[in-house]
Amino acid sequence: MLFTKNDFGADFKWGVSTAAYQIEGAHNADGKGPSIWDTFTQRKKKIFNNDHGNIACDYYKHYAEDIALIYKLNIPNHRFSISWSRILPNGIGAVNHKGIDFYNRVIDFCLELGIEPWITIYHWDLPEALQQKGGWANREIIHWFSYFVDCCIKHFGDRVKYWMVLNEPMVFTGAGYFLGVHAPGKKGLSSFLAAAHHAAMCQAEGGRIIKSLRSDCKVGTTFSYSHIEPYRHYDERDNKAAAKVDALLNRMFLEPLLGMGYPTDALKILERIDRFMHPHDEKKLAFDMDFIGLQNYTREFVSYAPLMPFVKAKIIKASKRNVEHTLMDWEVYPPSIYNALKRLHSYGTINEIIVTENGAAFNDSYEEDRVDDYKRVKFLQDYIAQVLLAKREGVNVNGYFIWTLLDNFEWAEGYYPKFGLVNVDFKTQRRTVKNSGRWFSQFLQNTLSVSKEVWNKERYGLI
Ligand code: GAL
Repeated sequence: MLFTKNDFGADFKWGVSTAAYQIEGAHNADGKGPSIWDTFTQRKKKIFNNDHGNIACDYYKHYAEDIALIYKLNIPNHRFSISWSRILPNGIGAVNHKGIDFYNRVIDFCLELGIEPWITIYHWDLPEALQQKGGWANREIIHWFSYFVDCCIKHFGDRVKYWMVLNEPMVFTGAGYFLGVHAPGKKGLSSFLAAAHHAAMCQAEGGRIIKSLRSDCKVGTTFSYSHIEPYRHYDERDNKAAAKVDALLNRMFLEPLLGMGYPTDALKILERIDRFMHPHDEKKLAFDMDFIGLQNYTREFVSYAPLMPFVKAKIIKASKRNVEHTLMDWEVYPPSIYNALKRLHSYGTINEIIVTENGAAFNDSYEEDRVDDYKRVKFLQDYIAQVLLAKREGVNVNGYFIWTLLDNFEWAEGYYPKFGLVNVDFKTQRRTVKNSGRWFSQFLQNTLSVSKEVWNKERYGLI
């Protein structure tokens, strides 16, 4: 028994995702202002190997070659983000026309090749000038962000139909304002709750602005979403801990958007967001998105941990559990994406789901122009099969984007974990398509079938 691309239907959107800071480089070229990632990566010991994105894949200069690669690989949709400080060096106010020109060139070249551009408005690179005023922790961000959204739609909305407001608000507020491991490196509950509430306000407000300026656009926003299980199923405390982590990682930004408010039922500490709420905020947090972007990589196991502040829970890493994992120490567990899709579907109020990120970092073996990344090929086949399984069971999932096109700057992990379908030699900027890129390309031409075995439910036991 086999499945092919055709099984997903003609309307299903296949694509590849990237993000500005991770690939563009040209960090101070042509009038671009610094972003929080430009400054954060200058701080010692924050990033593996003290890596930074100053040059990265130099997509700023190589974009035509890279978009041509997308074309050659038969990938019909390209998701990328706009660097806020490239088009608005101070975050608000004067526009940098050279920055606008760059994205115009990217968009126009995509369209010329018949590739649909999908834009993420914010993928974590806040202008440093705005961080100086408190960044996401300052309520003024709602005004600054609205200005940025308005600017994007006015300049690019005539040609770009698909928009995503935020990329994974839980990650940029949690890692950036609570744990301090991502830019801007802030720590503490108060700055996190403030940043989180403002991000949740911006996600809905961004949607409203886009729709009001261009009702013909499709608007969504993206969420990281991992299937979560208690470490010991029989242990009541682990079950409670898992429910708290689920509220924090999966529900905290989605449910206010769906008009359900913050998930204080499972995580009482979120009641403290009240301090940052203004009259009518509760209502303004809601917006009816055309689609929700699901970003899934793995599942997490959670155990009770009394010494952990606030949540009293900890995640047990895949390597500690002795299971197959990627270079990020994320378990390879394909049913995670099936479970996430079913769970999103169960809300009953989500119009459409697009998988806007899924992929894996492995140690690829590179030999004479060939990159044999069979583990990635297998990973993608297994996860895609689970998407089909969910679709067949009635989940309205209508797209799947691989993270990512090029090996690139992987935030705090620097250039060490490689997720790309295409290898980049960072000394020469030479691109080499990996076997996974070739496989995806053949699959998209519908010349390749994948064994249905891979989506046999029994194989993974518990779903
Ligand atoms: C996501 C993020 C991407 C990429 C990916 C792999 O959380 O949106 O930028 O880094 O994870 O870690």
